[in-house]
Order: sequence, then C-alpha cells, then structure tokens
Amino acid sequence: MLEQVRVAQRLTSLDDIEEALWQELGHCVHERDHDWRRCVLASSGEQGADARLVVLREVDREARELMIYTDTRSPKVAQLQRDRRATLVCWSAALGWQLRLRGEVEVACDGLQVTSRWATIKHRPAAQDYLSPLAPGSEWVAGGKVDHPREHFGVMTLQVQSVDWLEVHALGHRRAMFDARGRRWLAP
Ligand SMILES: Cc1cc2nc3c(=O)[nH]c(=O)nc-3n(C[C@H](O)[C@H](O)[C@H](O)COP(=O)(O)O)c2cc1C
Repeated sequence: MLEQVRVAQRLTSLDDIEEALWQELGHCVHERDHDWRRCVLASSGEQGADARLVVLREVDREARELMIYTDTRSPKVAQLQRDRRATLVCWSAALGWQLRLRGEVEVACDGLQVTSRWATIKHRPAAQDYLSPLAPGSEWVAGGKVDHPREHFGVMTLQVQSVDWLEVHALGHRRAMFDARGRRWLAP
C-alpha cells in the first residue's frame, strides 16, 4: 500500500504537472531543506544495479540537464563512463511526488565546466569532499601511504530523457510519463 499524502492543490493537466515538476526541480537546488535536493542516483555496476544518495546542484530546465558534483575517483564515475544510462529518484513528502528521471550521464573531470565551478567552491568547507587523499571506497589502512592532497572535483550532468511522475494522494494516486513520445497518463 502506498502511503497517503495530502497535497493542498491538485494540478489537473499534464502540461501544468510537467511545468510544476521542473519548477520544483529548479527550486530544490536553492532550498537546503527541499526533499528533492538529496536524491538517489542509480547506475549499472559490474555486479549489477548500484545506487547512492547525491545532492542536486544545478538544474537547466531548457536543456533538461541536472548537475551533481562528485569526487572523480569514486566508483560511480567509472561505472557511468562504462554505461552512461542512469536514473535519479526523488521523493517529496510535502508534495507527495516521486520522480524517476532517466537519461544519460556525462562526467566532466576537467575543462572550463569543472574549473569554473571549482573556483567558486574551493574556499568553502564543502571543498574537503573533493580533497581527500584517499579515493572514496578505498580501504583505509592506519599509517598507509596516501597521495598528496589535491582536488578530484568533477561534474556529472544527467541529460533527462524521460520523467516518470507519481503522485501519492488520499483521493487516489496518479502517474504520468513525460518523454520523447510526449505526455501521457499511466496506471499508478
Ligand atoms: C546526504 C548525502 C549526500 C551525498 N551527496 C553526494 C554528492 O553530491 N556527490 C557524491 O559523489 N556523493 C555524495 N554522497 C556520497 C554517496 O552517497 C556515496 O557514498 C559516494 O559518492 C560513493 O559512491 P560510489 O561508491 O557509488 O561512487 C552523499 C551521501 C549522502 C549521505
């Protein structure tokens, strides 16, 4: 059974729903407490499906692109370089909306896109996330040899090809698909 959530005003047209979900995605990167700021990024690993929490950093609505920052040594980067297909799953209890954003991820490890963003965050505490001398997931050995700290900052861009929207609501759940074939209602 899906959890029942109340949403003050229900949108009725697919156009309005698509507009509203992109607006919310645009807001979430600026609102620390927005549920969609932290979402789950799923990819294909060598041993099957893999998934992890990430923070949405930027949204380009026109280009249908979502950006996430990462340590370029993290295993997900190699996974996404092998197979670019990925799904981002977002859930907002306030809206009662789940999104499954499917598409392809491009990982930038250098170039202007990376250096310009690194220039703005390198003096912030968050920069530490990309300066660890040990690669994410590497085994930690006390007294072990480590690299000199340097940045391993990269930008992952998800080019969204389809949005699977699910609304969980006390008056009945609704689901819709927005993709290259257009907009349509689905059975929830
Ligand atoms: C709340 C939260 C936010 C996170 N945000 C990010 C992020 O924006 N980018 C990132 O690469 N990892 C982020 N992580 C860490 C990942 O979930 C994951 O542990 C790490 O990136 C290694 O993943 P991998 O082994 O699949 O590459 C976050 C973890 C948590 C708990």
